[in-house]
Amino acid sequence: MEKALNDQVVAEFDSAYLYLSMAAWAEVNGLKGAANWLRIQFQEEQAHGLHFYDYIKDRGGKVKLMGITAPEHEWKDLLSLFEAVKEHERKVTERINKLYSQSLDIKDHATSAFLHWFVTEQVEEEKNVQDVIDQLKMIGRDGSGLYMLDKELATRVFVAPTFGVQP
Ligand SMILES: [Fe+2]
Ligand SMILES: [Fe+2]
Repeated sequence: MEKALNDQVVAEFDSAYLYLSMAAWAEVNGLKGAANWLRIQFQEEQAHGLHFYDYIKDRGGKVKLMGITAPEHEWKDLLSLFEAVKEHERKVTERINKLYSQSLDIKDHATSAFLHWFVTEQVEEEKNVQDVIDQLKMIGRDGSGLYMLDKELATRVFVAPTFGVQP
């Protein structure tokens, strides 16, 4: 379990780095609002990574950081970028579900309880991305629509995750 949790620390920082790369793409392509949205994802993923880090430490385990992967740098347009986000988050959901199943198999109840927040969070993550994809599909090639959506994405603010109320 400790090994799998350590792998998840890396996976969360991989996610963070991917979102930062996407933000850089948005920045260069004049999509300031999308860049803001993606930079907030970057911050959230780092918070997730740290939460796993703290949990390993709190359970008396050893945190072993490993290399993160170089992310992609190019996307065809904002819709393809958000479709890549969706695909990525689906893979993350699979990872989290696997971790959860593993904790149940070995009756590691504390880890199951810890992972519960992430199981719920993934539902939210996939929904948020789908909302943006739906809007982008509606907009199609309409430049003013994209302009309006970008303005909306610019209003997102980072709120540090609370990971549920601790006892
Ligand atoms: Fe995450
Ligand atoms: Fe995520």
